[in-house]
Amino acid sequence: PRPILITRHGESQDNVRERIGGDSFLSPNGEAYAKKLAEFVTKRLGSERAASIWTSTLQRTVQTGSFITGFPRVQWRALDEINAGVCDGMTYAEIKEVMPEEYQARKLDKLRYRYPRGESYLDVIQRLEPVIIEIERQRSPVVVVAHQAVLRALYAYFMDKPLKEVPHIEMPLHTVIELSPGAGGVYEKRYKLME
Ligand code: F6P
Repeated sequence: PRPILITRHGESQDNVRERIGGDSFLSPNGEAYAKKLAEFVTKRLGSERAASIWTSTLQRTVQTGSFITGFPRVQWRALDEINAGVCDGMTYAEIKEVMPEEYQARKLDKLRYRYPRGESYLDVIQRLEPVIIEIERQRSPVVVVAHQAVLRALYAYFMDKPLKEVPHIEMPLHTVIELSPGAGGVYEKRYKLME
């Protein structure tokens, strides 16, 4: 059966500065991951003719997918990271200091909390629906290069995790999660390609 490979983009310049959202490029570390990912995908899917690489429209995922050759690449706006609205570009420490009520509200209900002029996890889950439908229609493997919140939602869907767990699922950098749908449910394998 066709596997679905999901991964976060390589470490971005904003990850290094601990800023959320934004549209930064990869750090040198993140670029090293992008190259390792290309090698991994070539080895893992080399014999597959029709695989495709899906990214968001943000630079860090496009750049992460850019070293993978031989497969078509598709950009989805629906794969863009959770929109942090007025908090976009801030660090968690800054949000806590400047907007303590917002910080607290999110901590209390991370699933439903919607950033002012931005999104909640529930919003993200909803906008992913067309992507999920398209993934399920695919007959060949898909590599999805996206973002922490978006991948938590996708992973939870395929692994049948309860909604309330979604915002807390561990989604590490520099790791490929291979999901293989089978008779007894979805089988998962993780490949940590680098630190
Ligand atoms: O820090 C990276 C990041 O992708 C941010 O852009 C995003 O706001 C955040 O992770 C989502 O994770 P959490 O919901 O835990 O804040």
